[in-house]
Amino acid sequence: MGEHNMAFELRTLGKTSIKLTALGLGAWQFSQGQGLVGGFWPTLDDELIAHIVQEAWMGGIRWFDTAEIYGHGASERALSKALKTLQISSDEVMIATKWWPVGRTYRSLGASVPRRLQSLQGYPITLYQIHQPWALSSLKAQAEALIHLLREKLVYAAGVSNFSAPAMREMAHRLNDAGFPLASNQMRFNLLDRSIEKNGVLNEAENLGVAIIAYSPLQQGLLSGKFHQAGTHPTGFRRWSPYMSKKYLARTRPLIDLLGEMGQRYHKTAAQVSLNWILSAHPQMLAIPGATKPEQARQLADTLSFRLSEDEYQTLTNLSDKIISKSRK
Ligand SMILES: NC(=O)c1ccc[n+]([C@@H]2O[C@H](COP(=O)([O-])OP(=O)(O)OC[C@H]3O[C@@H](n4cnc5c(N)ncnc54)[C@H](OP(=O)(O)O)[C@@H]3O)[C@@H](O)[C@H]2O)c1
Repeated sequence: MGEHNMAFELRTLGKTSIKLTALGLGAWQFSQGQGLVGGFWPTLDDELIAHIVQEAWMGGIRWFDTAEIYGHGASERALSKALKTLQISSDEVMIATKWWPVGRTYRSLGASVPRRLQSLQGYPITLYQIHQPWALSSLKAQAEALIHLLREKLVYAAGVSNFSAPAMREMAHRLNDAGFPLASNQMRFNLLDRSIEKNGVLNEAENLGVAIIAYSPLQQGLLSGKFHQAGTHPTGFRRWSPYMSKKYLARTRPLIDLLGEMGQRYHKTAAQVSLNWILSAHPQMLAIPGATKPEQARQLADTLSFRLSEDEYQTLTNLSDKIISKSRK
């Protein structure tokens, strides 16, 4: 399988003992049209999802990121069904899922675990993440709930998502005091959104030994260049995103052109080069692109088979700097 030719070593999940492929596959796309955010992506049937998971697996990807809010468990169910169909056993794969805190207290953080495990149909929770910093309870109460889950071995590791530097620090210290590391903070990061480099999250994560898991690493498909082609438009919710405006597409075109040119040297696509940039940017970072087609998943996994040179990495960083600073004006 692909993992033997990987240009990127397995990465450690923060200060845990968990080793992961540098890329996981995001499973928001498997929400099957259900729930609050499930309508963002088209509804994919079980057979198609199994095919997507298979391509990711064949390419060496060994972990998947899902969440309670992705269709109230629909994504967890579809993912685990696909893994079962492919006869992938629970000791070969790792699953990260998330608790949705909006309008809820720390009590539901623990109470949600049996439902997550039921949706995952026998696959354990390797990483349990607090999806947003918006719970009705204090960080102290949420940390205590996580510590209980870790002590009882109901989850292997605990993480957060969309946490600011101070909130991440507090959570890390509270878990550390009980003898557990905060494994990760899942944050948006890509060539067009590098806010975590500026707002203290990345520095603080490095100081604390908390892994950053980069979500929306393709800026929801924009970095593949497909929306820069004449006649192609995003459908669904992405239609209204400022990232998909004509003005922004024009501003980012030089980056898409550069990604395409660099890709030619390796016979890779713009999407693969932009993901490769993330993995080269920070040696501890993990990324979780999503896919709605098997071919996309194949390509995403194949990102692990090559490595940009230092010069190429720097050239992309410089152009990204330019575009981001122009967008701030
Ligand atoms: N923690 C959080 O708050 C949070 C927020 C967002 C996402 N996430 C996680 O991060 C994962 C990924 O983020 P995301 O879904 O927002 O965005 P993304 O990974 O940046 O973009 C995914 C989309 O890019 C397109 N794509 C993928 N591979 C491609 C390829 N090889 N060529 C061309 N286009 C390609 C597909 O679009 P089409 O479907 O249009 O073809 C795909 O659905 C999610 O699945 C989820 O697990 C977490």
